[in-house]
Amino acid sequence: MLTHLLSRALARRFAASAHYSTSPIFASATASFHRQSLFFSSSSSSQIPDGTVVQHLENEDVLNQRPFSSEPSTSTISIDRSGLCNPPEHSHEPSSDTELIKHLKGIIKFRGGPISIAEYMEEVLTNPKAGFYINRDVFGAEGDFITSPEVSQMFGEMVGVWAMCLWEQMGRPEKVNLVELGPGRGTLMADLLRGASKLKNFTNSLHVHFVECSPALQKLQHTTLKCSDEDNKADGVEKSSVSTLAGTPVSWHPTLEQVPSGLPTIIIAHEFYDALPVHQFQRASRGWSEKMVDVAEDSTFKFVLSPQPTPAALYLMKRCKWSSSEEIAKLNQIEICPKAMELTQTIAEKISSDGGGALIIDYGLNGVVSDSLQAIRKHKFVNILDNPGSADLSAYVDFPSIRHAAEEVSGNVAVYGPMTQSQFLGSLGINFRVEALLENCTDEQAESLRTGYWRLVGEGEAPFWEGPDEEAPIGMGTRYMAMAIVNKKHGTPVPFL
Ligand SMILES: C[S@@+](CC[C@H](N)C(=O)[O-])C[C@H]1O[C@@H](n2cnc3c(N)ncnc32)[C@H](O)[C@@H]1O
Repeated sequence: MLTHLLSRALARRFAASAHYSTSPIFASATASFHRQSLFFSSSSSSQIPDGTVVQHLENEDVLNQRPFSSEPSTSTISIDRSGLCNPPEHSHEPSSDTELIKHLKGIIKFRGGPISIAEYMEEVLTNPKAGFYINRDVFGAEGDFITSPEVSQMFGEMVGVWAMCLWEQMGRPEKVNLVELGPGRGTLMADLLRGASKLKNFTNSLHVHFVECSPALQKLQHTTLKCSDEDNKADGVEKSSVSTLAGTPVSWHPTLEQVPSGLPTIIIAHEFYDALPVHQFQRASRGWSEKMVDVAEDSTFKFVLSPQPTPAALYLMKRCKWSSSEEIAKLNQIEICPKAMELTQTIAEKISSDGGGALIIDYGLNGVVSDSLQAIRKHKFVNILDNPGSADLSAYVDFPSIRHAAEEVSGNVAVYGPMTQSQFLGSLGINFRVEALLENCTDEQAESLRTGYWRLVGEGEAPFWEGPDEEAPIGMGTRYMAMAIVNKKHGTPVPFL
């Protein structure tokens, strides 16, 4: 089928969806370039295993420049009031800092020292006033990056096939909570509901629950799902939304914990884990030190190493226990995501008590992650510390740690995968789906379907591309992986058989 598709495609020029090619996830070459742009004001440099040269912040004098040293002091405390009468000249200069930058600097100043990269990342992405995701639509050609559901309707449809198969294995329950974590524009769910709308027993059983922190994206999801609001109570105080795509009730929650329990649950997390805050540890002369974010003398942000152990070191120890000493010995930097471990445990507990399963699709590794945090603005890699809040931050998902976290919390769940997105979508029948869609479409739609298909399941540049090199569709079929966590009583989920 693929050969058939590609030979038909060769006859055409693929210019229609050129903007997709700039997706962050696709550009492996630029990714390593980007990693070189982590600027440390340091003296030493070394080669880390992926070949990237980084400067190590071994010199703790950068840390010691902070106004308040962490060293215990034996001298008496005196207060210098001279500044009250002679304020420094720059104090009246208008600041061009954004609200978020002021907020981040405020935290660092208040703490009297640097903050972890995880805290920085969390504020940058989800600060309730000025976080990257909070006030706008960041997806698509006009936004900052593009995701699989936006590439092609086939992605949401195939995830729908997975959910329907699991529902069958669950014994076709009459009521199911279908939860999506971080639904973005709501495109995946809309395609899932449209695709499943003929299987009425399935769609009638569903209550869709979106876990979304962004009020702007919640509104967009409401529109994408063509929701109508109905008064739920006689007094009209409480409203509930129903998606007219399949007559399905839809609710929104800020966290997974707030999704009602007691019903069998199917959870979908596509590109949600990669937005969870990561901590980075660097090998230093004194052992593993956490990399932190501080304010430099010129008032920009800079990375420093913590001179003392940090609370996240407990999670680092846990992560190291889950891998071999040979794997750790090869690394000069390790990235860990405690929030991913905690979220996985919440998912596993829910599935263990209520039944059901979860599907996690993301870009990541089937091993320890070393140094993957990246920033994307308008489809280009930028420095992580540059103008925070104006660029997306994301990191590779550490799939083994999801497996271990789930298995640790419950013996009732089994973890499957990861398998590549290409294998996952292929086994669920994306080839048949694209063929069926190609039977009845315009030339323009056919071009878009073929490039979309390649982006979802291909690897590297599309061999059929005849347009400008820089616009070639890049496949993410192997860079993305799928993992499932399912209650053991339902058996092995499709297609992890
Ligand atoms: C990378 S986007 C993925 C969007 C969508 N799944 C897709 O594939 O197009 C991350 C999504 O998760 C949401 N999000 C990120 N962090 C969150 C958090 N801590 N709590 C709730 N939602 C969050 C964002 O607002 C956004 O909708």
